[in-house]
Amino acid sequence: TERDLKIVQDLLVDIAKDGGKIMIEAEHEFLVAAATKNNTSDLVTQYDKQVEDMVEQRVRAAYPSFGFLGEESFKHGTKLANSPTFICDPIDGTLNFSKGVPNCAISLALTLNKKPVIGVVFNPFRGDMYTAIKNQGAFLTKMTTGTTYKLPLQPVPAPMPSLRSCLVAVEWGNQRKGPNWELRTDVHKRLLTDKEEGGAFCKSVRSNGSAALDFCYVAQGILDCFWEGGVWVWDVCAGWIILEEAGGIVASANPGDWEPTLEGRLYFAVRHAKRENQKAVVEELWGIMGDR
Ligand code: IPD
Repeated sequence: TERDLKIVQDLLVDIAKDGGKIMIEAEHEFLVAAATKNNTSDLVTQYDKQVEDMVEQRVRAAYPSFGFLGEESFKHGTKLANSPTFICDPIDGTLNFSKGVPNCAISLALTLNKKPVIGVVFNPFRGDMYTAIKNQGAFLTKMTTGTTYKLPLQPVPAPMPSLRSCLVAVEWGNQRKGPNWELRTDVHKRLLTDKEEGGAFCKSVRSNGSAALDFCYVAQGILDCFWEGGVWVWDVCAGWIILEEAGGIVASANPGDWEPTLEGRLYFAVRHAKRENQKAVVEELWGIMGDR
């Protein structure tokens, strides 16, 4: 029920605050030692593990029958189940975190039937707590002042007629070769290329280093659009419901697919909604991806 979801959300908010404390204390140990996973841009710190262990212990203690899927404990081949499942990215933006760039967040969600129903994204360095529950709206609480704002912030910014007027986030992930890498670099280039040369000539491109926060920034109206090819469920799950509840849309980056799922490796194009032509902008994005 709505009340049950609110109780779960309160728990996730509480856990996110505690995770945030671990991140803030760790930051004082500049630079945070990081080990590489697949390569030098794919990092893990002891704090990713520490935060994820804390999250797992607390949600399992409160809801022993629910599933748990976390970035650091994920085993390849694990499938998302229909039953209620907690999704955890202990530190989204680990590279930023390890360098002291204050754009990183703890990202927690609950899925039901493989769809996000609760999202909590907390950047402790800015004190920004983003929350959403399915059909109950999205909110931003500034922990520094204790003020809560409903998203999207009012007035909702004017409609964007095309990618030309959008500030677009594109993230790089950690692959540096192969088809997925080619796609990312091509999209990046075409977003910035002049119209006459076949590009979108968007306002500009940002790579902030945290997919979870990119979703929240689109929900908030800081960014107009976020595109990334090849993200994982923990990168997007919480941000997805926050964006949708703020009136945004999430589309698969597979051209023509308006109903993306959380399963497997994902491709996304995201666009702020409450703007007449949001679908047109996604179609434009699909257009610059070319045939893939
Ligand atoms: C990564 C960040 C990054 C995105 C990657 C993610 P992590 O998450 O969100 O911006 O490009 O695809 O994996 O590894 O720092 O939790």
